Amino acid sequence: MTERVPHLGPAAPPDLQAVAPESPDPIDLSDAFRGREILLTGVTGFLGKVALVMLLDRYPEIGRVHLLVRPRAGGSAEDRFFGKVASAPPFRPLQDKYGEGLGRFLREKCTPIAGDVAEPLLGLSEEQVRKLTGKLACVVNCAGLVTFNPSLELAISVNTEGARNAAELCKRTGATLVHVSTCFVAGTRRGPVFEGRRGSAPPRCAASSPKAGTPRTRRRSASPPGASASCGSRRS
Ligand SMILES: NC(=O)c1ccc[n+]([C@@H]2O[C@H](COP(=O)([O-])OP(=O)(O)OC[C@H]3O[C@@H](n4cnc5c(N)ncnc54)[C@H](OP(=O)(O)O)[C@@H]3O)[C@@H](O)[C@H]2O)c1
Repeated sequence: MTERVPHLGPAAPPDLQAVAPESPDPIDLSDAFRGREILLTGVTGFLGKVALVMLLDRYPEIGRVHLLVRPRAGGSAEDRFFGKVASAPPFRPLQDKYGEGLGRFLREKCTPIAGDVAEPLLGLSEEQVRKLTGKLACVVNCAGLVTFNPSLELAISVNTEGARNAAELCKRTGATLVHVSTCFVAGTRRGPVFEGRRGSAPPRCAASSPKAGTPRTRRRSASPPGASASCGSRRS
């Protein structure tokens, strides 16, 4: 008699059934994040802000999020985060949830630290690395250079060396690395380039502007009425 194997079902060939894993329990993320410390880079950017807000909104039991921020003309890491980033629109769900208590909640959970991903160990001092060692569960590297034509030197220092520096910090502290990679490869084609089969537009996307792109993209933009105009229009 064939035993029913979860996920594969009774129709799975016997050799596959033999190696099919037991149905795993779903991971309890609240439990996984409870009390853990994370270091997040790129929080002044688009993706980093959203990542931080989602983490804090969904898993408020998280221990602490160390935010690596470059000190710039806008101020120190602390000034930039609490003065500017924390009041940005992506924080709306947290503002709705905590109201006037949001500042206190953020100071309880977030520690801005000055750093630069282009520096060895992200610019942290030996003392800072020592303090994080054994405590840091994960480094989430959302820092990146997304301009299209940076100097090669700058692009390599942030997007390549930055990933390597984050990995080195993980090695030193025992943390896991989550690296958010650069996302677009479009060759020399102009205008919106969609994922999937070459030349096929996804069902709900159309070219964003009839002025942009080659005649081929322009033809595509004439198709589905009411289709979203935003797909593929952002730089990353
Ligand atoms: N946006 C998307 O939809 C998307 C999708 C997939 C993948 N990604 C990838 O996610 C990453 C971030 O994209 P994004 O859209 O959030 O870009 P973004 O808005 O331009 O933000 C870039 C972030 O990286 C930081 N950064 C740049 N150089 C740094 C350095 N040397 N040291 C420390 N921080 C540095 C910036 O800090 P400053 O404020 O100090 O400049 C900023 O916080 C990129 O690798 C991108 O390719 C983005």
